[in-house]
Amino acid sequence: MFSSSSSFNFLAAVFSLLVVFSFFSKSNAQLNSDFYSCTCPNVSNIVRSVLQQALKSDARIGASLIRLHFHDCFVNGCDASILLDNNATAKIVSEKDAAPNANSLRGFNVVDKIKTAVENCCPGVVSCADILALAAEASVSLAGGPSWNVLVGRRDSKIANQAGANTSIPSPFEDINNITTKFSAVGLNITDLVALSGAHTFGRAECRVFSVRLYNFSGTGNPDPTLNKAYLAKLLKICPQNGSPTALANLDLTTPNKFDNNYFANLQNNKGLLQSDQELFSANGASAVSNIVNTFSTNKNAFFQSFVESMINMGNISPLTGTNGEIRSDCKRVN
Ligand code: HEM
Ligand SMILES: *[C@@H]1O[C@H](CO)[C@@H](O)[C@H](O)[C@H]1NC(C)=O
Ligand SMILES: *[C@@H]1O[C@H](CO)[C@@H](O)[C@H](O)[C@H]1NC(C)=O
Ligand SMILES: *[C@@H]1O[C@H](CO)[C@@H](O)[C@H](O)[C@H]1NC(C)=O
Ligand SMILES: *[C@@H]1O[C@H](CO)[C@@H](O)[C@H](O)[C@H]1NC(C)=O
Ligand SMILES: *[C@@H]1O[C@H](CO)[C@@H](O)[C@H](O)[C@H]1NC(C)=O
Ligand SMILES: *[C@@H]1O[C@H](CO)[C@@H](O)[C@H](O)[C@H]1NC(C)=O
Repeated sequence: MFSSSSSFNFLAAVFSLLVVFSFFSKSNAQLNSDFYSCTCPNVSNIVRSVLQQALKSDARIGASLIRLHFHDCFVNGCDASILLDNNATAKIVSEKDAAPNANSLRGFNVVDKIKTAVENCCPGVVSCADILALAAEASVSLAGGPSWNVLVGRRDSKIANQAGANTSIPSPFEDINNITTKFSAVGLNITDLVALSGAHTFGRAECRVFSVRLYNFSGTGNPDPTLNKAYLAKLLKICPQNGSPTALANLDLTTPNKFDNNYFANLQNNKGLLQSDQELFSANGASAVSNIVNTFSTNKNAFFQSFVESMINMGNISPLTGTNGEIRSDCKRVN
């Protein structure tokens, strides 16, 4: 028979073991930049060279790929859950059909091309989650942005979380407080929010995600008052009333395909495309946020340095490093 004190000790020991295990299975410490140095030393070059090929026919593809990494990391961490297709047998309800993703995410075919090229060199070694992180870095550096050593060693999930994708990914119609809350829910602060929003220095958005700002902002029957008048006129031509909701506008009107800090000057000039972009500069009572916009607008190096730091922070969101994960052989399905 246990005395009450020895059963207490036993429970305490079990509890501390659980704490230790949960620490190791969640720990970021296992991601590092040398993870594939023996098993797939050329992986970064392989990713980069497939991307370079894809950019020749699609100037937007780099932007689309970094967005995949973002939408992956915000839902159950950076575990390639975003890449899984529907599969009733495997109980996968795809995140691709979640509200922020459906008819919006692109680049899955290029991810598959990268995976094939990587598998040809190093079969069964590199996770799809790491491919997204590596492709994000290559996209930024090939567009003129900073380069960095990507931390790798993530494993791929065996599940998807469509409900999580519906609720955890920020919406362009949300205000700064809601978006800040969603970032802090994954451990990212306002410096990360502003720096990472700087990814809107390239890529496109469809009229449907910003046209409410052109015609009937907050039910006023008028355009968003923070929108620059000349920019408004330009956007009205791209998105006429009763026009196609899927017509595209550049997220950065000045240098649409280049990774630079012009996005922040655009915000200062009331030329942010999404409501969530312009709020970083124009929201009432958010001077801590707009101060960061001002810093990044005047100092490109400060932006690049913060961007790299924040990409690493985002890439560290709950990576799968234990037996809950696997190295998928096809990024679209579990093994
Ligand atoms: C802060 C909250 C954010 C919101 C509300 C937001 C929202 C959006 C929306 C609505 C689009 C256009 C989608 C479409 O029209 O189909 C878009 C595009 C894009 N987003 Fe974000 N985003 C946010 C943060 C981020 C972050 C953190 C990154 C990456 C680090 C990112 C990278 C991109 C890129 C590169 C595109 C263009 C994609 C393409 O051309 O295919 N965004 N975003
Ligand atoms: C690494 O990959 C690049 C791009 O595919 C290729 O050009 C190069 O020859 C590879 N280097 C080695 C050492 O395999
Ligand atoms: C669905 O998942 C099952 C079980 O994991 C797998 O055997 C099958 O190949 C998958 N089907 C498709 C179409 O991916
Ligand atoms: C996620 O949102 C989509 C689109 O609004 C909806 O069809 C779907 O049922 C939602 N999924 C879950 C699991 O809540
Ligand atoms: C912001 O979050 C609150 C609380 O979750 C919610 O009630 C509100 O609808 C959100 N606002 C927008 C614009 O999404
Ligand atoms: C956000 O976190 C970073 C560390 O990742 C830190 O350097 C920065 O000062 C923080 N920003 C704010 C506003 O707290
Ligand atoms: C603007 O939106 C409000 C609220 O959604 C609506 O009541 C109003 O009829 C709309 N006005 C116009 C001009 O579409």
